[in-house]
Amino acid sequence: MKLLQPIRLGRVEVKNRVVQTAHSAFVDFWQKGNDGARYIAYVERRARGGCGLLILTAMHVHASSQKEMHFVYDAADMAPKYRELSDRAHAHGARLVQQLFHYGATGKSEARDDMHPLWGMSALTSSQGETAHAMSEEEIEEIIESFAAAARIACENGVDGVELHGTHGYLIQQSFSPWGNQRTDRWGEPLAFLTAVIHRVRAAIGPDKILGLRISADDFLSGAGGLGPDGLRDVAAGAVATGHLDYLNHSEGAGGAHYVRAIGSYRYKMGEWLPYTRGLKEAISGAIPVIGVGKIPTHDLAEQALKAGDCDLVGMTRAGCRTGGAILAGAGGGWRGGDPPCILGRGAARGA
Ligand SMILES: Cc1cc2nc3c(=O)[nH]c(=O)nc-3n(C[C@H](O)[C@H](O)[C@H](O)COP(=O)(O)O)c2cc1C
Repeated sequence: MKLLQPIRLGRVEVKNRVVQTAHSAFVDFWQKGNDGARYIAYVERRARGGCGLLILTAMHVHASSQKEMHFVYDAADMAPKYRELSDRAHAHGARLVQQLFHYGATGKSEARDDMHPLWGMSALTSSQGETAHAMSEEEIEEIIESFAAAARIACENGVDGVELHGTHGYLIQQSFSPWGNQRTDRWGEPLAFLTAVIHRVRAAIGPDKILGLRISADDFLSGAGGLGPDGLRDVAAGAVATGHLDYLNHSEGAGGAHYVRAIGSYRYKMGEWLPYTRGLKEAISGAIPVIGVGKIPTHDLAEQALKAGDCDLVGMTRAGCRTGGAILAGAGGGWRGGDPPCILGRGAARGA
């Protein structure tokens, strides 16, 4: 079974091709003073279930990326939590990658005085009616450095690598999309910010750690300020041409109303996005492994996608959960203790 065959991401071997992509579970893990026990147990349970690569819930890299009930990490507070998380996941042979992001102009300060104004490439007005501050040169540099610093903290404390979150309408996607970036200085060049982040993060984590990128295969904004599948394939090719990426991941749309497609509901077909995964793979001439994503809930469909050459690894994120309650449990609710009820198919039953 190809699904259970190992694969190398850069210099790191992953024991099989089953991936849990990032999803906002237990975001209080990043809250200073929180011991992280719930999220660590959640990740460990998936690792014990047999998942090869676990991409950790997105982590805000800078205080200007904010929303209530989300937390910007504290370096000293994170180190022991990452150590414990890594040790416990590694004990089951899983690899961990930390997803990194910044909301940019699509954040939400909830009108709180203690939050920064939103920082964006351009002074966009968010769907909540907040107008972002267009970052200065110095602020862009601060954000690039904050991606590197966050990556360093994860990787120095046992995490196997990081993934840059370049979709769902957030800052990285804003930076290469016409709707998000109308700058006339050097940062107006569509790939300038993304490639600067890639170079800086690779320099921070060194050659032995994994560096991945998640973009949309389709932003659903062709002709409406977005890039569409063809433009996004060019972004993928440009990013991979840096020579610093170890895998490509994808998730569709630009956030907001697009989530219903990105996190496909019952209305949408199984494996709906696999032809788009294949499009990305072709755009980069198979230079690095690509993760196929979106309603791939069975071993059979995953195997079929791998055999057809649509992808090299398979995201089986909600599929790895027995109940929606555990996966959706954020800072406010859900599972409160004991062994979280999430599994990865049959492997979990064996490992339990
Ligand atoms: C509750 C929830 C939160 C999510 N949060 C993120 C996120 O922070 N970053 C991200 O890239 N994708 C996020 N996703 C999307 C998942 O990574 C994945 O692409 C999606 O669930 C589709 O895959 P699936 O059909 O295998 O579940 C989230 C999904 C869910 C269900």
